[in-house]
Amino acid sequence: MFANVADYRAAARRYLPDFAWSYLEGGAEDSITMRRNRAAYESIAFAPRVLIDVSTVSTATTLAGCQASWPAVVGPTGLNGLYCRGAEEALARAAHAAGLPFALSTASTSLLEDVRAASDGDLWLQLYVQQDRRIAEDIMARAQAARFSTLLLTVDTPVTGQRDHYARTGFTLPLRWTRRLLWDIATHPRWLAKVGVHGVPQLVNLARSARLGPGIEAQAAALGRQMDTTLDWRDIVWLRKHWPGKIFIKGIQTVADAALAFRHEADGVVLSNHGGRQLDGAQSPLDILAHTAAITPRGAEILVDGGIRRGSDIAKAVALGAKGVLLGRAPLYGLAAGAENGAHDVLALLHKEFDICMRLLGCTSIAELGADRLCAHGGAFEPLPGATHATQAVPLNITATIPA
Ligand code: FNR
Repeated sequence: MFANVADYRAAARRYLPDFAWSYLEGGAEDSITMRRNRAAYESIAFAPRVLIDVSTVSTATTLAGCQASWPAVVGPTGLNGLYCRGAEEALARAAHAAGLPFALSTASTSLLEDVRAASDGDLWLQLYVQQDRRIAEDIMARAQAARFSTLLLTVDTPVTGQRDHYARTGFTLPLRWTRRLLWDIATHPRWLAKVGVHGVPQLVNLARSARLGPGIEAQAAALGRQMDTTLDWRDIVWLRKHWPGKIFIKGIQTVADAALAFRHEADGVVLSNHGGRQLDGAQSPLDILAHTAAITPRGAEILVDGGIRRGSDIAKAVALGAKGVLLGRAPLYGLAAGAENGAHDVLALLHKEFDICMRLLGCTSIAELGADRLCAHGGAFEPLPGATHATQAVPLNITATIPA
């Protein structure tokens, strides 16, 4: 077991070919937002209280109405089959063992039914909506039948962000067997033996609902080019008709849009810029967290993601008003470095760090973890006000080739 998430990241970097590593790690354009996500956490200082009995501490909470051992969700990430075989099942089992929900992406490389068969834990479905709404309706019906509890509607991806690294590493779907790609794979023999020899992972989940056969080309087109860019707030009503469980809107980036989400009776929002993979230059979700908490109706929940790499980051998010965080890249580093055991270890490390952090802050329960445990570090964590008016997405005729 490595010492921290950064060590798992380094091991994942060594193990994966460049194209898979850059898919996992890369941000959009100049990665300004990706760096900003980290900087937001680093700019916050703790104000620990002492001489408090912290011999017994509980990190337990509820997320979307279900028990969780600590305030985190293993977040949805597409194409996980690039890192190990049976990746989604492995993540679901690791999350369940850690007492956390696991959110399966629409772009998953295992069937949601197989993920349910692998784990009895709390499973959430992340939804991308294609132009043919029957695809999303079918995925939702399948997920209900498989007892998925909560829906995350991702709204920050009408088109795929500009990711320069795809051009550099030559990553396309389907893979184009260029000399560069062949060399990349040949120089990563461990990955080739364990993952590469089995071929390109397929977007089987989407393929089943879209009634597509095997073949990553048509699947990637369904996910990227056929994304429904007309989706707007009115569609929450459509979603409600097909999903009786909790609905969270993922990819909220302003206080104004959080207010709109609550007005449309979302059960929660995920403040997220997709880990800096979409609009480069977007603000950090942490910067709007406190203001969003101030307008959140009773019973609704805020989750936040982007840049969580330490248990102390989770403490900062919770102290600012989040019910929990979504973990994106961190468990994937573990998965790439050590398959299911690696993901399991990353989650165990983050939980341990969070537990230590709570004790050092003088908090014995999540309820005690409030903004009084933080201090404005030169005013740096003062949240930026959200936009004052809601903006309507303008559909752009841009061809997205690679899914989120
Ligand atoms: C993502 N993310 C994502 N989100 C989503 O709603 N559906 C998806 O299919 C994907 N796919 C995806 C792939 C990869 C490789 C990454 C790294 C991320 C975004 C993800 O859910 C989350 O918002 C961010 O990853 C959080 O930022 P950190 O923790 O990675 O910094």
